[in-house]
Amino acid sequence: MEAYLDGREKMIVSRLEESLVRFGEDLGEVNAWGEDVCRRLIAFSRGGKMLRGKLVLLSYNLGGGDPGGEDEAAGAAAALELIHAAFLIHDDIMDQDSSRRGGPSVFTQYQRLGREQKLRAPGHFGQSMGICAGDAALFMAFRILSELKTDAAIRQRLLSLYSRETSRVAIAQMQDVYHSARPEMVDKQDIFRLYVHKTARYTFSLPLMAGAVLAGQGKALVAGLESIGESLGVIFQIKDDELGLFGSEEKIGKPAGSDVREGKKTLYYLYLWQRADEKQKHLLARIIGQQDIDASDLAAVRRLVVELGVREQVAAEVKNLAAETAERIRTCEDLPVPFRTMLLDFLAYNLRRGN
Ligand code: IPE
Ligand code: MG
Ligand code: MG
Repeated sequence: MEAYLDGREKMIVSRLEESLVRFGEDLGEVNAWGEDVCRRLIAFSRGGKMLRGKLVLLSYNLGGGDPGGEDEAAGAAAALELIHAAFLIHDDIMDQDSSRRGGPSVFTQYQRLGREQKLRAPGHFGQSMGICAGDAALFMAFRILSELKTDAAIRQRLLSLYSRETSRVAIAQMQDVYHSARPEMVDKQDIFRLYVHKTARYTFSLPLMAGAVLAGQGKALVAGLESIGESLGVIFQIKDDELGLFGSEEKIGKPAGSDVREGKKTLYYLYLWQRADEKQKHLLARIIGQQDIDASDLAAVRRLVVELGVREQVAAEVKNLAAETAERIRTCEDLPVPFRTMLLDFLAYNLRRGN
């Protein structure tokens, strides 16, 4: 499995590089930023795990896709990695996170450039450039998709799938930002709905469906992957929240405690709020959502999460979700057995994350 996935990563990287170098040359006709953005996007993408891209290829292969068409599946994988890059670039501006994938986030890179060149308002300059870089990444991803050498009907299905799913993410991000800006707590259903649309569908459902569509699979199998993908992705996001709260920057490659600083309404925060007494709520209100929190504030929140049993509560919830998901995978008649095995592997991968 590992060797298989490594091989697939190489295919995605080379397809991504080939496309971005070509687009960079083409955009060079506009100005030097075209090449600049493409170069940064290659470096940024190389720093990721390429989980989504690998899922496209896995699903293509398991779905019986023609080995001769694997390069086009790698194109669909590269497009999704580029879309993911765009989401992260924009997300880091929204969440004010200065690091990502172990290096400066893209808008931070431009802020540095703004400072080096002594530009006016380098902070704002960097954010504006980051928005443009993310936009460029999104549209180039769709350019890759539109250039895929597949059957026209399949290309059409893919384009419609990618645009539907990516616009859902944008709308879910709006809700995430809105929830964070409001003092009111949200309910569990809202949090789960947000996780499904902000993360789960584009991280699991979309690549699994895309690979199957490219392999020429029909509706039933694609729908099975869509539904299981949602469950896998929700678990992935809860684990991401855990890493964001308890992980270290060296390990996760992005700032720890960003969700606390931004006042994100995660499952951890909901349970914490439900269990806290008045005094503890007062403490939380002083820390959560405040831009200038320090390490000791974050440590206080972590301590409460553990002391009030919230960490255990979330872990128990993840365990239940995982058991339900495993059962659904095992009994899903629409999915051939190799698919079920692969999905169970990814369920285990999600559960291992951060441990
Ligand atoms: C990432 O969301 C946003 C999208 C990719 C749509 P988060 O803000 O929850 O994730 P991290 O913690 O920055 O990676
Ligand atoms: Mg973020
Ligand atoms: Mg965010």
